[in-house]
Amino acid sequence: MGVQIPLPAFIMICLAIESTAHTFSAGIVTDKRKVLSNIISAYTTPKGGILPAEAADHHAEVCGDVINKALQKAELKMKEIDFIAFSQGPGIGQCLRIGATAAKVLSLKNKIPMVGVNHCIAHLEIGRALTAAKNPVLLYTSGANTQIISFEGGRYRIMGETLDIGVGNMLDSFARHIGIGFPGGPKIEESAKKGKNYVELPYVVKGMDASFGGILTNLKHKYDSGKYGKDDLCYSLQETVFAMLVEVAERALAHCNKDELLLGGGVACNKRFQQMCGIMCRERGAKLFVPEKQFLVDNAAMIAWTGILNFKAGVRTKLSESTIKPYWRSDDVEIVY
Ligand code: ATP
Ligand code: FE2
Repeated sequence: MGVQIPLPAFIMICLAIESTAHTFSAGIVTDKRKVLSNIISAYTTPKGGILPAEAADHHAEVCGDVINKALQKAELKMKEIDFIAFSQGPGIGQCLRIGATAAKVLSLKNKIPMVGVNHCIAHLEIGRALTAAKNPVLLYTSGANTQIISFEGGRYRIMGETLDIGVGNMLDSFARHIGIGFPGGPKIEESAKKGKNYVELPYVVKGMDASFGGILTNLKHKYDSGKYGKDDLCYSLQETVFAMLVEVAERALAHCNKDELLLGGGVACNKRFQQMCGIMCRERGAKLFVPEKQFLVDNAAMIAWTGILNFKAGVRTKLSESTIKPYWRSDDVEIVY
């Protein structure tokens, strides 16, 4: 019997691109879960709101620079990259197309494979990679998305979601209406700290789904009536919509018989939201996991890591299959790893 000489550990390196909505990001991650870089450039307008064509122009403008910065930060050259991952959907068509095109150019020019990744699943996978969460329920709350996702029967299932707008868009719309700026979430969080009186608002939960459009209209009317202070409305808004999200998340935990809740999406940066999720988890003996901010918001590191999981399982996205999927649902994704 010969002596086994341990082979040097082969490290696989992925460069990924994220461009589903406001954010263009490039990130480099190794298969050892090391994030070498995660450069984020967000398109923003003074009053908020997203004009798809303008966001796409922003992405096209910054794309080369962001990719170069990701390589510089990682201290790598393009030839050291093993493959490219990109956000293939869901998202805004015009924005997705810029990221997908950049990925195709890099893949063809450098003769390396490409892997298309589902953005929502990536929010969950980065949480599993960087926290101790093993098989969590993901509460994904961003601008456009509000979903509760759980791995059931071999796929990531959407257990519940918004029936209309995403909770972040709702916060941004209300902030815009009362003129406190964009993005609205952090401004509302500051204002809410000064609020003292709870103002009754509609509370709309249906099973594991929630709806935010009616609350937004109600809030706008209340603000326009002049009878309520801005801080009290922001405080009441947070208490109400976060309670709704905590309720649907708790229902999903009970239904799926799970004891780990993972947060993802920009709204999860909110400290009061984290606190309310923490209280619910403690009361039912579950654990709460909150990745650091750069991995909560849209970022390419999460696309790279999910790309690595797929790549290692043999997934390759051929040029003919690399068309963007603006309406790609998490439960349509075959999980092979
Ligand atoms: P997606 O394509 O995933 O919908 P997105 O472009 O909305 O992405 P994110 O960065 O995940 O991107 O989330 C942005 C949202 O997060 C905005 O609506 C913003 O107001 C909200 N947000 C950011 N910080 C906070 C905070 N502290 N409290 C509440 N909401 C916040
Ligand atoms: Fe996102």
